[in-house]
Amino acid sequence: MKTTTFSQFLFLSLLAFCFASLHGSTTHPEEVQALKDIAKTLGKSDWDFNVDPCSENPKWNLAGPYDSKLVPRNNVSCNCSIDTFCHVITIDLSLNYLIGTVPKEWATLKFLNTIVLIGNRLSGPFPEVLTQIPTLKALILESNNFYGNLPPELGDLPHLERLLLGSNNFTGEWPQTLSNLTTLKDV
Ligand SMILES: *[C@@H]1O[C@H](CO)[C@@H](O)[C@H](O)[C@H]1NC(C)=O
Ligand SMILES: *[C@@H]1O[C@H](CO)[C@@H](O)[C@H](O)[C@H]1NC(C)=O
Ligand SMILES: *[C@@H]1O[C@H](CO)[C@@H](O)[C@H](O)[C@H]1NC(C)=O
Ligand SMILES: *[C@@H]1O[C@H](CO)[C@@H](O)[C@H](O)[C@H]1NC(C)=O
Repeated sequence: MKTTTFSQFLFLSLLAFCFASLHGSTTHPEEVQALKDIAKTLGKSDWDFNVDPCSENPKWNLAGPYDSKLVPRNNVSCNCSIDTFCHVITIDLSLNYLIGTVPKEWATLKFLNTIVLIGNRLSGPFPEVLTQIPTLKALILESNNFYGNLPPELGDLPHLERLLLGSNNFTGEWPQTLSNLTTLKDV
């Protein structure tokens, strides 16, 4: 009786262990959902959700760097050492012919440090939702159709190092709040 219980315990522990390690290598479910919502809003149909986004499969994460800047990039990279799930830390979707505005679901990606959306057809006012991701270090939105003033909330990104917004139709001054960002080195 006792031995049975003990081997059952062993078996269950092993199961729990396997489950935990399996867990550790998959993208946080909320982030997968956010990526699905983002894909839908931007008209991005080539992300393959049958493959885990953080699996380092070339469908999501291309071995870089490319020799040319002028090719579409389709690159999602993750950090799997933060907690029991993997988290998206980089999204590079340059030259993807993305349309529309930047959807609010980006704020669900709480560990993002790099967003590169160069050369798409994104429009609308500055996507303020991106100022709700305090981990951001690089925000690169060059060559889109954004317009209007830059929001003071950009000052809420304490780790921002690169903020590249050229070739859009932004108007007005840089917000005063940026003067507080001592980390900024490339604008
Ligand atoms: C994809 O992103 C990772 C992490 O930022 C980077 O090391 C790699 O070079 C990138 N690949 C391409 C093709 O840009
Ligand atoms: C992943 O996260 C851990 C814990 O925060 C950090 O120490 C490590 O530098 C990160 N790795 C990358 C590639 O960002
Ligand atoms: C930018 O503004 C100029 C001048 O107002 C206008 O002619 C042009 O169409 C605008 N471009 C975009 C991409 O909105
Ligand atoms: C800079 O930060 C300080 C302290 O948080 C704050 O009092 C001040 O208003 C900020 N300045 C600007 C221009 O945002």
